[in-house]
Amino acid sequence: MTRRVAVLISGRGSNMVSLIEAASVSGFPAEIALVLSNRPDAGGLERAKAAGIATAIIDHKDHPTREDFEQAMDAVLQQHGIEFICLAGFMRVLTDWFVERWAGRMINIHPSLLPLFRGVHTHRRALEEGVLVHGCTVHFVVPELDAGPIIAQAAVPVIPTDTEESLAARILVQEHLLYPQALRMISDGSARLEGGRVVFSKGWSGEGALRSPS
Ligand code: GRF
Repeated sequence: MTRRVAVLISGRGSNMVSLIEAASVSGFPAEIALVLSNRPDAGGLERAKAAGIATAIIDHKDHPTREDFEQAMDAVLQQHGIEFICLAGFMRVLTDWFVERWAGRMINIHPSLLPLFRGVHTHRRALEEGVLVHGCTVHFVVPELDAGPIIAQAAVPVIPTDTEESLAARILVQEHLLYPQALRMISDGSARLEGGRVVFSKGWSGEGALRSPS
């Protein structure tokens, strides 16, 4: 069964492209049926259109409240028959209403090894703290920001000459490998949310859920 997936973006959409590319390969258990942006100028919209994917813009500035904005998004998601949501650089905090409506069906990629460095400026903070290993995480979305149950992580070494930019670039390479793997896992049911924890299917080998330093 091929799951219908929406990718929600606010910016350049490089993770979105990695999901579109992975899903275009025959046998992948999900199809990217919609790319939705809250910003009309998001660069990812053109990249999605170029790949022949349906796009929608729901500008949060056109809506008086967060709830109103999210109801508009939800209506478009329903119209497109969406089953799973991937947040990919989507820069709006979501209300409990929306998160609970999509519980177990919405995932996010975060540029740190959660639960370290929730929130923004993760690479800068990792350098400030002097960690030697950093990375990225795909997790189910729960009401608390960047706190949801973890599906997959990738780790990279932090090297002495790293800058925020070099570290971000090294991790982005891993993000582009990790996010499609996590989408595969939730789409084919090998990772699912049960009782607030991720349950991995029997027979799941662990391959892809933890990528080692490259
Ligand atoms: C990525 O670093 C992702 O981890 C974070 O926002 C960034 C989005 O980049 N949530 P892109 O729009 O996918 O290129």
